[in-house]
Amino acid sequence: LRHLLALHGLPKEILTYILDTASSFVSVSDREVKKVPLMRGKSVFNLFFENSTRTRTTFEIAAKRLSADVINLNIASSSTSKGESLLDTVDNLTAMHADMFVVRHAQSGAPFLIARHLNEHGLDHIHVVNAGDGRHAHPTQGLLDMYTIRHYKKDFTQLKVAIVGDVLHSRVARSDIHAMKTLGVPEIRVIGPTTLLAPAMKDMGIRMFNDMNEGLKGVDVIIMLRVQNERINGALLPSAQEFFKSYGLTPERLALAKPDAIVMHPGPMNRGVEIDSAVADGNQAVILSQVTYGIAVRMAVMSILAGN
Ligand code: CP
Repeated sequence: LRHLLALHGLPKEILTYILDTASSFVSVSDREVKKVPLMRGKSVFNLFFENSTRTRTTFEIAAKRLSADVINLNIASSSTSKGESLLDTVDNLTAMHADMFVVRHAQSGAPFLIARHLNEHGLDHIHVVNAGDGRHAHPTQGLLDMYTIRHYKKDFTQLKVAIVGDVLHSRVARSDIHAMKTLGVPEIRVIGPTTLLAPAMKDMGIRMFNDMNEGLKGVDVIIMLRVQNERINGALLPSAQEFFKSYGLTPERLALAKPDAIVMHPGPMNRGVEIDSAVADGNQAVILSQVTYGIAVRMAVMSILAGN
């Protein structure tokens, strides 16, 4: 593995290897072991052209636990604000001896562009990790979601999973679906208004529901999504209250799922829009565990790319 750009097309063996490697890092990510020297002397550049709380911070923590040097480029005060192109920025950071770029960008494909540029210039030793590109992919979120599901549910091949909300604009939904298909989840459902579902998913064998009460019946895992207002250009949207009425996860709706169903959310959450606080803070929510597992999963990804 040279770069991690998407989960689509990665075989089951690689996904499982990453999850198993993440398991081996849990004691380091939990600070029982302070640090490991696997990336000592390497420089990881965090290039976040879109805002982030969880992904940027956990990549930084993960890189530091691997003993790498971490440079967080402040995009707002960088020369991109003076018109420097993405690839010129990358060339300049490469001249500063970058070993890895962790890239988040509003444009789908931006991390692919960087990876191709590095490949074309023979910079084989520099790795790119996609930290979320547009509505396309968020592979490390997909992996940490798989880690969380495996932790709580053990066997992917026995599960019914529902993804609820703005599936159309969600890079998390796409990465989760590709990973779950590869790992053998037999039933994946998406639930939302038709305007926020992606019809092409039907061709992947995904079951579509407009009625949330129907879609949640008997599921083992519920993945809630935020309405991605920043990616919806002028589309007519229901108000937050209307959305919550039809697609908000309340304790009453959660009771339609299996009694031991887990509730996930990639964050940031909008309480009272897609999820009720009683559920977000309830004992079936594993939302903060997802964040914690993100450290070990990102350690695994970076150390594998770095050749360990
Ligand atoms: N899940 C996720 O990508 O969160 P951030 O936008 O805070 O990184």
